[in-house]
Amino acid sequence: MNEQLPFKRLNGIPASKEDVRNRREHVKRIVIAHPNYSDLLTEIEEVHYYSKGSVKPDSLFLSGEAGVGKSTLLEDYTSRFPRDIVNNNTVIPVLYSTLPVGATPKTVAARLLYSLGDPAYDKGTEISQTSRLLNFIKKCKVELIIIDEFQHLLDRDTKHILNKASEWVKSFCDEAGVPIILCGFPESKKIFKFNSQLDRRFLTKLSMEGFRYYTKEEQIEFRAFLKSIDEQLPFIDRSSLASKQLADKFFYATNGIPSHVNKILYEATGLAAKSGNDSIDENHLYDAFNKIEFTTRPFVTNPFTVKNFNIVEAFELEKLRSKDAN
Ligand SMILES: Nc1ncnc2c1ncn2[C@@H]1O[C@H](COP(=O)(O)OP(=O)(O)O)[C@@H](O)[C@H]1O
Ligand SMILES: [Mg+2]
Repeated sequence: MNEQLPFKRLNGIPASKEDVRNRREHVKRIVIAHPNYSDLLTEIEEVHYYSKGSVKPDSLFLSGEAGVGKSTLLEDYTSRFPRDIVNNNTVIPVLYSTLPVGATPKTVAARLLYSLGDPAYDKGTEISQTSRLLNFIKKCKVELIIIDEFQHLLDRDTKHILNKASEWVKSFCDEAGVPIILCGFPESKKIFKFNSQLDRRFLTKLSMEGFRYYTKEEQIEFRAFLKSIDEQLPFIDRSSLASKQLADKFFYATNGIPSHVNKILYEATGLAAKSGNDSIDENHLYDAFNKIEFTTRPFVTNPFTVKNFNIVEAFELEKLRSKDAN
């Protein structure tokens, strides 16, 4: 039982619309400090801390496939250093920003200015925007800059490097005078290959990965992740997500990608609350899974409610079906 949560026992009475919404929003915000997450958080802390007042601040590059939790981690870190107003001056210890799709020097500078809170973010020439940006960074006492969606330095269709923007980012990193964390999909490593000066500045390259499930240790880790989530679900009773059978099914359904786990639980939470349940059961998971389209896995089958589910066979069957189709 979880009495700390603000969610009442439903006892078979369907939750109101507002209650359903609150419960689902709660699920969206669940963040678990799993081992890979905590390790990376420590790395970021170190870069931040040891670069203070350094003549040559360290920087790092973080890569990972979509949905593994990169932005969640970076936004979590940023939120630990809230903005403040000191003597009429806004202090922004950690600046989190993203690169815009189809990045150009002007749109990148504007995006960073916008993240700082400059109402005139898109005004002025590239040069004046850049100098305004560097000024604000000093004035707002920015200590660390995080730039997410680094893969937007690649053209969306051709995957060619957007050279002007990547040159701009390189100069900006040199001139900002504070450590910078760049973050993006693994494919964005290509940018470093073609921009050796940028590469030299980002020698530390870390990666974030989804969960794995081959070894005993890996299975324990994934089940611990599910257990922590289960403890935070917006229901009075727990849902046994970490049982061996359900964990196998969750791994098969999600390939260990946190965003997929979250999506299934988000949908299942809505279904369970609407039917007045005080925990999520396998029928909710079954229906939730069917609501989601897994575009990258056209041959995945719904593992929930399957009796004596065998994860190895399920993955093999999926492979066979995709072979047959090709
Ligand atoms: N540490 C975590 N604990 C629980 N859920 C997570 C965690 N990291 C990510 N998620 C879930 O995955 C979703 C996608 O994460 P996100 O940070 O946007 O991934 P990325 O930036 O790597 O594409 C999040 O909205 C959240 O629901
Ligand atoms: Mg992201």
